Amino acid sequence: MKNIAVLASGSGSNLQAIMEAVERGDIRGGRVSLVISDRKNAYALERARGKGIPALHFSALKYSSREEYDRALVTYLEKRQIDLVVLAGFMRLLTPYFVLCFHQRILNIHPALLPSFPGVRGVEDALNYGVKVTGCTVHFVDEGMDTGPIILQEAVPVYDNDTTETLHQRIHAVEHRLYPRAIHLVLNDKVTIKGRRCIIDED
Ligand code: GRF
Repeated sequence: MKNIAVLASGSGSNLQAIMEAVERGDIRGGRVSLVISDRKNAYALERARGKGIPALHFSALKYSSREEYDRALVTYLEKRQIDLVVLAGFMRLLTPYFVLCFHQRILNIHPALLPSFPGVRGVEDALNYGVKVTGCTVHFVDEGMDTGPIILQEAVPVYDNDTTETLHQRIHAVEHRLYPRAIHLVLNDKVTIKGRRCIIDED
């Protein structure tokens, strides 16, 4: 059974979907063993505690640099024997040190069809650009901002009367299905990275 750590800064609806997918048996071979947030009041921490999963506020205030923070985080994750790091709305860019330590073992979900609209305003940027179709992307994390190899993507249509909120709501609904699926595939060695491409061996 592999240990998953979920890193989240906000509401944690993706975390909730992942925990429920583990309970349903849709994610096999792994369990959420730890949830970490850089924000003390992140609702994600409460969601984890509600399921009896250790949840920790890892404050950046104690560290003088991003690298120092990441070093402490890596030490902690290694002590807890974490196999897979899942970013679910974690609002910190990981340092190359962290990425190297968990090489090809970090996943992220982004609320747009990468490589379009990377960064923290993916939903708003897509809407303002005027695209008719956007979506969400699950990808491996590399040193860049939303640049790692893409595991799964799904499109979401943009409607004329959409606001950032309504559009994000529909993207969220897709994320809650797509992220657990991607995690299951990675945990069960169904994803092979070839250059920038992820080849999926569906089960
Ligand atoms: C999601 O839309 C995800 O794509 C982005 O941050 C949001 C997190 O939402 N990276 P939640 O905290 O899981 O509800």
